[in-house]
Amino acid sequence: MCLVAPGADLGPILTHIDVLTVRWLSHLIESKKFSKLDPGELMTTWGVRGVDAERCTVVKLPDRADAKFMRRAGAAVGKTLGDDPVLVESTLGTGLREHLAQGMALGNYRFNRYKKEANKGDKAPDWRIMTPSPKVAQRNFEALGCAVEGTEFARDLVNEPSNVLTTTEFASRLLELQELGVEVEVLEEDDLERIGMRALLAVGQGSDSPSKVVVMNWKGSESPPLALIGKGVVFDTGGISIKPARGMEQMTMDMAGAATVAGVMKTLALGRTKASVVGIVGLVENMPSGRAQRPGDIVRSLKGDSIEVVNTDAEGRLVLADVMWYCQRRFEPVGMIDLATLTGAIIVSLGYEYCGAFSNDDKFYQRFQSAAESEDENVWRQPLSKSFDKIIDSTIADVKNVGDRWAGAITAAQFLKRFVKADIPWIHLDIAGVAWTPKPSKFSPRGASGWGVRALTRLINDHYSER
Ligand code: BES
Ligand code: MN
Ligand code: ZN
Repeated sequence: MCLVAPGADLGPILTHIDVLTVRWLSHLIESKKFSKLDPGELMTTWGVRGVDAERCTVVKLPDRADAKFMRRAGAAVGKTLGDDPVLVESTLGTGLREHLAQGMALGNYRFNRYKKEANKGDKAPDWRIMTPSPKVAQRNFEALGCAVEGTEFARDLVNEPSNVLTTTEFASRLLELQELGVEVEVLEEDDLERIGMRALLAVGQGSDSPSKVVVMNWKGSESPPLALIGKGVVFDTGGISIKPARGMEQMTMDMAGAATVAGVMKTLALGRTKASVVGIVGLVENMPSGRAQRPGDIVRSLKGDSIEVVNTDAEGRLVLADVMWYCQRRFEPVGMIDLATLTGAIIVSLGYEYCGAFSNDDKFYQRFQSAAESEDENVWRQPLSKSFDKIIDSTIADVKNVGDRWAGAITAAQFLKRFVKADIPWIHLDIAGVAWTPKPSKFSPRGASGWGVRALTRLINDHYSER
């Protein structure tokens, strides 16, 4: 992706994108078909006279396009493009082309490393966007481009199948962030045993892949850190409370929380962000076996609370409980956000459109909400309250890991809240519906979306960095 001045040497161009306003396409713009399009929709024609390109795509703009609109329009364009060279021309006001560029890059993502006839190599396609102020635009795009790379990192991890992305492989991909200056520490099973993360270990004990906790530390400032926690269940069979076969293959995405955290860490490091952020992920595989935990088992969490494991398929909260407690004890963060594909119930509630959010702190939540809003990532707050909390009281332990049938996403959040210290601002994001979509979403094709990488990065830039 390159933002270039008019008149730059362009070489052969296969596709010419015009963001409205064109001289020679006036007949097209005046056509009935074009007038019926909604802003943001595209129209493509082949072999336009006077235009040195194989085909021409025109994007319809509203009267007032803003950055958000341009990102969406860009994604729509990016989705239709292969890796052909492209020239984009437009008479947009300044400061908008870089957002168009970001949208194009986000929308053009494909995960086809396992397809024989894959048409997209590792090389970024040759895309040029004409602008009267290429230097400024290119510099602005640099920051937006970091978020694209972080998002792609997260998406690749989520799309990777579980025979490839084992806990060990996941940890080694996170270790690669060291090259960018992130401190990465891998806690192995004997470390976790010594520390006392028995709830997390219980989830992974039926698997041949060893459980791990990975601590990623980006020290871009001296301040106490903001903490990001991710659920990293590399595959969730449900364990002994095994899931039905239909759709079980999707549970390869049950590590999306951890992937999102990794995507944010990568974005921060690429952007040399002047903020202090610690990302901690719990990597486990939930398998049935002779060694697996059983329904009815009671485990002692790191916090010291005993947990009655009524359903081994409610495993994410067991992992998070220990990782969150460890994080608070070791780092005393200024705030903590956990991301997890935690419940099917949140999909019943909000579908694939909105992330479900829970928080113990209105101001903290407000900051996140407006960052997500600016980045066009949908989030909707759900309630926490004592009346939901008592549903998970256990008769024989301090807490049980499932409630009854109703309000499943909320009782899961109430469970987590028991592992949050009272004075720590906390947000729980249940990303089960938004992290992986069965249909294309705004900025991504079917599959992993990378939801949250941009919102969290913006939150950090706006409120937790020195600049
Ligand atoms: N990983 C699942 C939640 C999930 C479901 C993620 C669908 C993405 C898509 C989680 O571990 C789980 O199994 N949750 C159970 C909880 C239940 C046993 C209380 C669920 O939602 O059914
Ligand atoms: Mn489960
Ligand atoms: Zn799960």
